[in-house]
Amino acid sequence: MATITSKPAVEVSATTDPLQLIDVDHVRFHVGNAKQAAFFYAHCFGFQIEQVSDLTTGSRDASHYLLTQGNIRFVLTSGLSAEHPASLEVAMYGDGVKDVAFTVFDAEKAFEKAVRNGATPAPGGEPRTLRDEHGAVTTATIRTYGRCVHTFVSRAGGYDLVNVKKGGVFAPRFRRADGPGACAPAGGCAPPSGITPVLAVNEHNRKNPCGLKYVDHLVGNVEMGRMNHWVAFYESVLEFSMFKHFDDKDISTDYSALMSKVMASGNNLIKMPINEPAPGKRKSQVQEYLDWHCNTPGVQHLALRTDDELHSIAALRARGVDFLTLPDAYYDRVWERVNTMLTSHGHEAVREDHEAVRKLGILVDADDEGYLLQLFTKPLQDRPTLFFEIICRRGSQSFGKGNFKALFEALELEQERRGNL
Ligand code: FE2
Repeated sequence: MATITSKPAVEVSATTDPLQLIDVDHVRFHVGNAKQAAFFYAHCFGFQIEQVSDLTTGSRDASHYLLTQGNIRFVLTSGLSAEHPASLEVAMYGDGVKDVAFTVFDAEKAFEKAVRNGATPAPGGEPRTLRDEHGAVTTATIRTYGRCVHTFVSRAGGYDLVNVKKGGVFAPRFRRADGPGACAPAGGCAPPSGITPVLAVNEHNRKNPCGLKYVDHLVGNVEMGRMNHWVAFYESVLEFSMFKHFDDKDISTDYSALMSKVMASGNNLIKMPINEPAPGKRKSQVQEYLDWHCNTPGVQHLALRTDDELHSIAALRARGVDFLTLPDAYYDRVWERVNTMLTSHGHEAVREDHEAVRKLGILVDADDEGYLLQLFTKPLQDRPTLFFEIICRRGSQSFGKGNFKALFEALELEQERRGNL
């Protein structure tokens, strides 16, 4: 069974570099119906529907649902009018990731430094502070690729991230989703059992954890020829550095290819691979994403870290999560490939039960530092855009390069089924 760990936040002080990232504050999704999407992510992936900000809390323009698991915080946002930016974006792109927000010591200073470094402020992204009797949350937002943004978040008083991680209120105008007022502002419609649907799913998920701990990495797809532009952006604006890069010889099949460079924050808090399509005989999976995303760059997948891949995948499969299916022949070769690599570098062989790995359809890869287990969901919405990866690292800090070929062949089968190859 998994040991419980979560990525530690970074120690900071007033003298810390303004662009020192303390944590991934949250990942915001723009969705068509946050109330319903909250149940999808809770039911399928085991998230707590923890807090909500909506008409009942004085949020007149949008609804926001805070979903939590381990050190993962998702905010699902839906506009309440046709003109709201979230509504306009959902009409264009469908559901997907809008914002990868970072906790920093001082959001205003981080924003100013990023802008000095060449960032463009997002529309309405200038620093602003929401304050009430419990504390204050300051946010400031810059643009990154496509329609995506990064918000710097600094927190004070009761809104400190340490408190939020213990279940404290996320920001002004949020309330617990399963506490008083969960059903109606007047509190007069509690069902006879006293169990609201949110309380029921949260209780079930507390008793049946999926073991997801934090965001390991987050991959962006950009247009052909633009990868190096965005690599330079992350280097100069956010002072990230290049962690790894792969070219189309690494990541290609007979038909499709891509190139990828992995950018990492200074403290390796977050890694952000950036993909661009490479020419192949057939359409690259990155190009398929762009085609269904208004030819606009965006987040292709979020990799969620677990300490126990077998437990997490079994739990997610039992909940109905649809994963990519690999040809069974994958397992004819994988153990020799991976265990040879591991023993040649003096590491233990893969300790997970090999037959259980095969039955659960999990991918395995190794490098000179160790191995990893990973598996990819099918798209999380009707459009073939955003998906999740569930990853467990046993020493390896890479991204499953040895699986790319097998994975891409599986992806191409799916593309073909969608008529997009
Ligand atoms: Fe990944």
